[in-house]
Amino acid sequence: MYPLEVKALSKHFGGIRAIEEISFHTKDRTILSIIGPNGAGKTTLFNCLTGFMKPTRGSIIFSERDISGLSADKINRMGIARTFQNIRLFRDMTVLENVLVAQHTKIRSGLFSAITQLPLFKREERTIREKAYEYLELLGLETHVDKVSGSMPYGEQRKLEIARALATGASLLLFDEPTAGMNPQETSEMMRIIMNLRELGKTIILIEHDMRFVMGISDRIIVLDHGVKIAEGSPEEIKTNPMVIEAYLGKETH
Ligand SMILES: Nc1ncnc2c1ncn2[C@@H]1O[C@H](COP(=O)(O)OP(=O)(O)O)[C@@H](O)[C@H]1O
Ligand SMILES: [Mg+2]
Repeated sequence: MYPLEVKALSKHFGGIRAIEEISFHTKDRTILSIIGPNGAGKTTLFNCLTGFMKPTRGSIIFSERDISGLSADKINRMGIARTFQNIRLFRDMTVLENVLVAQHTKIRSGLFSAITQLPLFKREERTIREKAYEYLELLGLETHVDKVSGSMPYGEQRKLEIARALATGASLLLFDEPTAGMNPQETSEMMRIIMNLRELGKTIILIEHDMRFVMGISDRIIVLDHGVKIAEGSPEEIKTNPMVIEAYLGKETH
């Protein structure tokens, strides 16, 4: 059984075939990268997998259940979390608050009781806060807990988005261009962070343009072009695949 199995998934917008009959599966504790030129359908694929869009056809099996067409909230509660190409945070909230809110899917007594001071909820609240600090430490944000999220540099905001995805307790994490706008040092830091998440037992799918990053981090790579999967394989196989080189990698391969 695979954590995620996608079968002949299509999403059309009127006449536009954003993705067409895409099939693949993930394996536990691995990093799968989705690459392809702009407009290839990468984000649309993520939108279908996470319930932000209803697929036109096909099925998405997660933990042995067909989740295609379920709401984003339901899918999230089942254990899939994502980050966005354009960062989505509560910009006016602190770093810690952002993570606490993300944890609400896991909180039995609900978000509001968790942030009140009722003695009944004190213990649960303490555990939740400890967990939040744990997630923030994993991302190297533990010294930023009280900062206003929107005031932090872009790279830190990207990390906070990942902390929020983790905080939902998801086992499958989808990151849409996690290094976009990052400098080389931040990019290699992000690489270490994501590899660490794999060590911790998470299964990861990411969309990425930075080829050094993709080739360095991925267990497997899928290449999309015009909504169609044109190749799948190990980084070595993808680097040397003539179709991929022609469609996408061009002169960037070395
Ligand atoms: N909400 C939408 N409505 C109409 N067309 C869309 C929508 N979202 C994406 N598309 C189209 O689907 C195709 C794939 O887009 P996208 O998934 O964003 O590609 P990528 O993430 O690989 O750059 C593009 O032609 C894009 O214009
Ligand atoms: Mg995209």
